[in-house]
This record gives sequence, C-alpha cells and structure tokens, in this order.
Amino acid sequence: MGKLDKIGADSEAGTPHIFWHASQVTAETRLHHVGQHAATVWLTGLSGAGKSTLACALERRLIADGRMAYVLDGDNLRHHLNRDLGFSPTDRQENIRRSAEVARLMNDAGLIVICAFISPLRSDRAMARDIIGEDNFVETYVSTPGAVCEERDPKGLYKKARAGLIPEFTGISAPYEVPLEPAMSLDTGELSLELACDRLFQHLSHRFL
Ligand code: ADX
Repeated sequence: MGKLDKIGADSEAGTPHIFWHASQVTAETRLHHVGQHAATVWLTGLSGAGKSTLACALERRLIADGRMAYVLDGDNLRHHLNRDLGFSPTDRQENIRRSAEVARLMNDAGLIVICAFISPLRSDRAMARDIIGEDNFVETYVSTPGAVCEERDPKGLYKKARAGLIPEFTGISAPYEVPLEPAMSLDTGELSLELACDRLFQHLSHRFL
C-alpha cells in the first residue's frame, strides 16, 4: 500500500490480478484542503424512529455551520445503488456493506457523512464500524420505541406488515437488536427534533469540529 493513501489495499481484492493504485494526495493535504475532520454518524433504529428526519436536520445544521456534510439514507440508496437488494438477512448485510463502503470513500474525500439505516443486526453494524474505522464512527441509536413508530406509521408500512403484506418487517416479523454501547441514544418520541439535532451537533463538535 502506498504511504500516501489513507485508505488503501488493506484487504484482498475480490478477484486476482487486481492492483492498488496509490493516491498522490496525502491525508494531511486533504484535511488542510477541506478544513474539517471527516466522520460518519451512523443512525440506527426502527422504521419510523426519525432517522431520516434527524439526518436531514443535522446535515442542514452542519452545512449552515460551514461544514461539508451528506446524508446516505437507506430508502434512497435502495432506489439506485442498492435497488437489487431486498430485506433478507443476507441482502440487508450487503446493503450495509455497500453503504458503509460509500461512507468510507466519502470520509476519505473529507466529508461528514450521516447514515440513516435500520441496520437491525449488531454484527452488520460492527461490520460498518470496521469498514469505516472506529475513530470516525459515531453509532447513534434512534431509540424511539416500537409502539411510537407504529403509531406514527408515516409510510403506512406497519399497517401493511401487521396485515401480513410485508414479510420480514423489522420490529414485527424480523428482529431489531438494540445497540449495546452506542455513542448516543436519542428518542424522538421524547426529544424535539431541534433538541435531538443539537445533541448530535454538540457531540460532533467535541469530537471532530
Ligand atoms: S436495512 O434493514 O437494510 O438497514 P434500510 O434502512 O436500508 O433497511 O431500509 C429501510 C426502509 O425500507 C424502511 O424505512 C421502510 O421504508 C422500507 N422497508 C420495506 N420493507 C421493509 C422491511 N421488510 N423491513 C424494514 N423496512 C422495510
């Protein structure tokens, strides 16, 4: 691996006869150029917990503060990059793997990335942490209780899942594993959007900005 690379050939390529082409821009040069430390805020929680709303509010707040930030949202990525994936455990794992790889590239380019994925399994979130790197990863549990999410049912999916129309629906017919040691927990049933966003922003300010 070239000395200049921040990310590099740190894992085997998927096929043989593949070589790593090293960047000529150092991590320090990039940091100086963009003027911010990159990070990935990983929002996990049930559908309807408020991940996307919080992600967009935080993105807006960071941009207003002069930072470069970008949201990767599960629903949105499933329209394009991940459109071939469903909701089986294997497909969800691949969804998280690809999305974490995108976040890692965006971090390498200097952006603050805000990821909003149900990412229901601890093992998949651990994989995302590994891909992105412990130092850059801010696991945030959007802990809004299932009953509140189901009551909100913003997309009408809980109703359909209860009627048996959506198989493997997280929280109904598929598991959600609560994070054991998240950097933050935010219940949007109790906190206003503004307060939840404030807390995340403060956390990022202390650690990275
Ligand atoms: S993840 O489990 O693989 O992380 P992701 O965050 O990308 O999921 O997508 C979740 C979104 O897909 C939900 O907010 C909901 O709109 C939609 N969805 C469709 N089917 C399901 C399902 N079976 N379980 C959960 N969410 C689903």
